[in-house]
Amino acid sequence: MTITDVQSTAPNAQGYRAFTLGGFHFRRDEFFVHISWPTGKHVASIDAFLRALQRDVAWDFFYGTVNFDQVFGTVNHYGTVDMFAGRFNDAYRRAELDHTENFETPIIRETFKAILADWTNAAFDPFASPAETAKPFGNKDGDNIAAVTRRRISASRMVGVPSDEQIRTDESGFPVNRMFADVSQDEPEVHANPGFEGDVAAFNLFAYLSRSDVTWNPSVVSVCKDSLYCPTTEEYILPIVHGNDRVEWFLQLSDEIIWDVQDRDTGAPRAKVTMKAGDVAAMPADIRHQGYSPKRSMLLVWENGDPGLPERISKGLENVYPVEF
Ligand code: PHB
Ligand code: FE
Repeated sequence: MTITDVQSTAPNAQGYRAFTLGGFHFRRDEFFVHISWPTGKHVASIDAFLRALQRDVAWDFFYGTVNFDQVFGTVNHYGTVDMFAGRFNDAYRRAELDHTENFETPIIRETFKAILADWTNAAFDPFASPAETAKPFGNKDGDNIAAVTRRRISASRMVGVPSDEQIRTDESGFPVNRMFADVSQDEPEVHANPGFEGDVAAFNLFAYLSRSDVTWNPSVVSVCKDSLYCPTTEEYILPIVHGNDRVEWFLQLSDEIIWDVQDRDTGAPRAKVTMKAGDVAAMPADIRHQGYSPKRSMLLVWENGDPGLPERISKGLENVYPVEF
């Protein structure tokens, strides 16, 4: 499927195209996205919608569920993707108004990319902190293709080792962010024994993260079998509510994030977790969570990339908690 196969209309009075995928229909005006499906309709701020859409596209539907809000979102089946309305909302379920459709990943990916490209104006960057970008509102005013086609930076071994040394950790990459001006930029010295120069590497992770120009966008800095270290810098609110299909660990590297934790399927509140620098938490495989970072902070998200996990957990063969105390 190519972008020309995406079903869309001519621009409306505000300059934006409307899009259709299966029974779902999407249109935007100056302030809002309007989503409709056979059993209902929904309206949300275009600001929150574009920030969530940007992440769903860049992360290729992520692990498990990406809730854009309490109503609309996607579930990744790693090859196909469910698009849903009301599926993880107790009230919609009871009223039998929830709706889900399954699509081949390339079809929903191309549709989402086309919506994101058409609806993002020149001065808005959905990955940026709201303090570092213009607003997304108003009539169509150019586009920002470079920003919306950015993908997360992903090492195949570790930042700094030969195959991953294209990942920049200095001025040739990005400047130090305004909130991390005090972060030391010293790099460790590596003295490898002869013959091991290609196997031993080290880099200053804090310096690397201090140069991140995006928020709530984990990069992958090391890969060891299924162990993925995905650190990220956070400011304001995680634009999605992530429904886990596996356990995920958080290491708060600096400052503070407040996590709202709810039941994954119903949205019932489960916990408020305030993580300060040095705190470590495991998010169970049966919850959804959204983070609030009052000041730009550094977070290490530790993911288990084992593709068999979601099925083993859903069959009860694996616990939803990493440890039983
Ligand atoms: C998460 O859903 O666990 C998540 C996503 C993006 C982040 C941090 C955490 O930047
Ligand atoms: Fe998560």
